[in-house]
Amino acid sequence: MEKEAAAERLKELREQITKHNYYYHVLDEPRISDAGFDLLMKELLQLEKLYPELVTPDSPSKRVGGMPIPAFQQVQHVVPMLSLDNIFSESELHDFYLRLKKNLGFENITWVGEPKIDGLAVSLYYEEGVFQRGATRGDGSTGEDITHNLLTIWSLPLRLMDKVTAEVRGEVFIPREEFLKLNMQREARELPLFANPRNAAAGSLRQLDPKVTAERPLDIFVFSLNGISGLKSLVTHWETLQYLRELGFKVNPLVSLLTGLEQVVDFYRSIESRRRELPYEIDGVVLKVNELLYQQKLGYTSRAPRWAVAFKFSSAEEVTRVKAIEVNVGRTGAVTPVAILDPVLLAGSVVKRASLHNEDILREKEVMIGDEVVIHKAGDVIPEIVKVLKEKRTGRELDFTMPDSCPSCGKDLKRLSGEAAWRCLNPACPAQLIERIIHFASRNGMDISGLGESLARQLHASGLVKDVGDLYYLSKEDLVKLERMGEKSAENLLEAVQMSKQNPLHKLLVALGIRFVGERVARLLAAHFRSLPVIAATPVEEITSLEEIGPKIALSIKEFFNQEETKEIVKKLENAGVNFYEGLESEAKEGALKGYTIVITGTLNNYTREEAKERIEAKGGKVAGRVSKNTDYVLAGENPGSKLQKARELGIKILTEDDFESLIT
Ligand code: IVH
Repeated sequence: MEKEAAAERLKELREQITKHNYYYHVLDEPRISDAGFDLLMKELLQLEKLYPELVTPDSPSKRVGGMPIPAFQQVQHVVPMLSLDNIFSESELHDFYLRLKKNLGFENITWVGEPKIDGLAVSLYYEEGVFQRGATRGDGSTGEDITHNLLTIWSLPLRLMDKVTAEVRGEVFIPREEFLKLNMQREARELPLFANPRNAAAGSLRQLDPKVTAERPLDIFVFSLNGISGLKSLVTHWETLQYLRELGFKVNPLVSLLTGLEQVVDFYRSIESRRRELPYEIDGVVLKVNELLYQQKLGYTSRAPRWAVAFKFSSAEEVTRVKAIEVNVGRTGAVTPVAILDPVLLAGSVVKRASLHNEDILREKEVMIGDEVVIHKAGDVIPEIVKVLKEKRTGRELDFTMPDSCPSCGKDLKRLSGEAAWRCLNPACPAQLIERIIHFASRNGMDISGLGESLARQLHASGLVKDVGDLYYLSKEDLVKLERMGEKSAENLLEAVQMSKQNPLHKLLVALGIRFVGERVARLLAAHFRSLPVIAATPVEEITSLEEIGPKIALSIKEFFNQEETKEIVKKLENAGVNFYEGLESEAKEGALKGYTIVITGTLNNYTREEAKERIEAKGGKVAGRVSKNTDYVLAGENPGSKLQKARELGIKILTEDDFESLIT
């Protein structure tokens, strides 16, 4: 085709594709078959390949991902990207309303209610209607340029219906279904799974290679507009949302114009009750004063607008089905029933199992196989079954009885007096052994990376590892015989095993899995006695003389070291050269944060607040609640609060989560 004709055809194709893309991804009303659409795309890509000079900045070919970028560039936000204040109850809503009334001096406030999308805030810059650049929120004043990745989001218009120059803000997310599919694909390819849709979206936007991002089902809702030129004049937020829609953006269909507090409360309740049916995750509703003039009048605090608030949902519950009930044998031999569930998203992570704790609880809750159940997260961590929806029973549900023999080794189970759990008392039980290997290698234990559940099973099944002591006698020749174990992986594993020999004593104590000896007790013991042989030889009374260590723990320690199996393991570890001491060297390393006071703000991706605090304390540091001149560092996660502002004012060093990782490891 001649260049002129190609230019003509390309223009046609761009228009066609853009139009159909809009119908499909923004309006959710496709007007062409997928195959028809693919044909148009294919033709466009081929023609553009022939005439690269004819590629325009708004060409749909940008969706498939261009060249990888070498590094992220910083982008200064012209208007800071603030956060929202959170409220959790109707009484807090009332207080918020009273403050508004006082500040504005009148009662009749109209609001806009919007679902609060649980994704990532982005800023989008358009010039004369053409998408130029997009950035993450970052710390609110500087973000990262992620234009190359945003281009791959089909529902993000590359050219607007009007030639406006403006900054638009919205939330990028991955719909639930798509997220579950994505994780299934990753599982099949043995890639690490994403914890929740939000993390998956974050990881996708953080790619240097947009071809990877293009494979991720990202979507976007927009909710704010900072106009620069060429815009319609707008008086209310409601009009703004309609205008954003007219420009070609995807605006959430549930946004509502509300008058009076009663309607606001109704909106919150109705969205909360529909939460589970929505195809994407939300964590509350956002309530905004409708009149832009009043918004201006109310203004901002250092962290958030005074004219808006996030009313968060408090409890997370989901309904799912019990597919099966399995019994799990833990490393101490305790046998616990576990409900295997249809995978479901709960408070931001996928839940597939829920512990039923023990037989008594199982009976009390009357859980049957096939039941529909309500699950929740206790303390937002461990998923639990709240209740069975008995009205949903069909008669095909099956009763479950606890086995009387160990599902792993077949030996009889015993219920020790005073204990709710049934136990397998066979020290050679394979399930217990595998669990002990996994525990031994875990992060808080000997931290042997690469040694997880599947390898532990293989090592046990092949007979290479009969107890954790054998881990130190593995050879490359043995390892490469295992399925899916290449030379490189074998070398890496041996290296990790070798490295673990240097660990300080407290890690070894945790790793050995002595009942009632967790990280805290292990540290106390190691700090006091300094050597494994000393602990093993110390009488119970002397161990209990340590503060915080009672007879239950001391007896368990004694019992552990008196066992023949333990003696054998200790011998193997000793001969392999595993460190048995809590030395000065490890003290220096462990105390890296000694004398430092750290304040945490915002949400961290890899740690809960409690975990971050533990890590800091483990390194000898202190965690404080408020920023003052005595603060050494502020650790800032996502959506940091006013503490970050304060830290900036006081010139205190701010740590990102990455900085923090490198400090504590
Ligand atoms: S308005 C000045 N509306 O929630 C801040 N934010 O916790 C204006 N978010 O950073 C934000 N859905 O990333 C607004 N409908 C919505 C939202 C929304 C999700 C996010 C946004 C913001 C965070 C604040």
